[in-house]
Amino acid sequence: MTFTVHVAGSELSFPCEPREFVLDAAERAGYSMPSSCRKGVCNTCETALLSGEVEQRGKGRRTARDGSALVCRAQPRADLTIRPKRFERIDIFRRKTITATVYRLARPAPDVTILTLRFPIGLRAPFKAGQYLQVIMEDGDRRNFSMANAARHNDGAELHIRHVPNGKFSEKALSRLAVGDRLQVEIPHGDFHLRVSPRPVILLASGTGFAPIKSIVETAIHAGNDRPMHLYWGGHRREHIYLFDLAANWQRRLPWFTSTPVLSDAPASWAGRTGLVHHAVREDHRDLSGAQVYACGNPKMVEAAQRDFTADHGLPEAEFFADAFVDSGPSASGDSQRA
Ligand SMILES: Cc1cc2nc3c(=O)[nH]c(=O)nc-3n(C[C@H](O)[C@H](O)[C@H](O)COP(=O)(O)OP(=O)(O)OC[C@H]3O[C@@H](n4cnc5c(N)ncnc54)[C@H](O)[C@@H]3O)c2cc1C
Ligand code: FES
Repeated sequence: MTFTVHVAGSELSFPCEPREFVLDAAERAGYSMPSSCRKGVCNTCETALLSGEVEQRGKGRRTARDGSALVCRAQPRADLTIRPKRFERIDIFRRKTITATVYRLARPAPDVTILTLRFPIGLRAPFKAGQYLQVIMEDGDRRNFSMANAARHNDGAELHIRHVPNGKFSEKALSRLAVGDRLQVEIPHGDFHLRVSPRPVILLASGTGFAPIKSIVETAIHAGNDRPMHLYWGGHRREHIYLFDLAANWQRRLPWFTSTPVLSDAPASWAGRTGLVHHAVREDHRDLSGAQVYACGNPKMVEAAQRDFTADHGLPEAEFFADAFVDSGPSASGDSQRA
């Protein structure tokens, strides 16, 4: 039996199968809602549940009495009425599974690898700057990594991978990977991308959270952007801002772009900003009511930024967009990525 999901306050509805996640069904119908990890970990997709009942994978049944559901992991058990924080018509690029070839491996910092993949000749995978792909390992396990390349360079992908201690992909598989090897990816995923708006943009990154931000900025450069963008890129030490010179170069070349690197564990020789990266934004922008914020990287940073910017600096909830780089392996949700 197919259920119907109604979107409160609108005439919109879409069908959802009992074994389908509500988020997948919305996307199949051509709509996007806030989402990031798709594993029930980051809470980005938390949506008000006004009526009906869902099976929240790993968390049991939820009804309107519970108030909300994580739609990335919720399967319907009745017709539903939901009120998402955002519900947009999107041109979803058709998701493709591609066997890519490793083209380049670089180590800009001791714990970061830049992995450049090329797709087979003639094959392109359109995506929106800011989105991510899933690496599919030999045993079928999947890991999320954001594209760092400009959206028009869609005949391959550049990934910035932080080495997670004991990481199955980022330490073990990556250390065995060589130029010319094959790697399966599924692309694109996610709804983190730049929205059309006159609002000035604050880009907030920690560590490899710079990857989707790089894609956004390089895509904006090509589009002839003149909307103000201010990047705050945080790391413990200088090496964590592993493409420091690139961001500095953008600042020199682009009248609309400013870069502020922020170190939380700075040496005495560091003349720049120090402390938590989102605190630097708070110091510089007391009033964020007219801004739009894009935050990526450490989940604690993303959570604190969202809380503080909206509670203390007037940023409207709907103007905060984020990808929290949570664990994307099977341990994240306790089962495999696929229903
Ligand atoms: C939407 C999205 C986009 C992402 N994009 C990027 C990206 O561009 N670059 C990047 O470096 N990472 C990114 N990540 C994070 C990355 O997918 C995970 O860190 C992934 O689990 C690493 O895989 P692994 O096989 O190396 O480690 P795993 O084998 O998955 O994990 C090994 C151990 O480390 C823990 N762990 C793994 N990741 C984390 C984490 N982030 N925080 C805390 N503990 C963790 C696990 O629980 C496990 O115990 C993204 C995550 C999401 C959700
Ligand atoms: S919890 Fe659903 S997208 Fe992260």
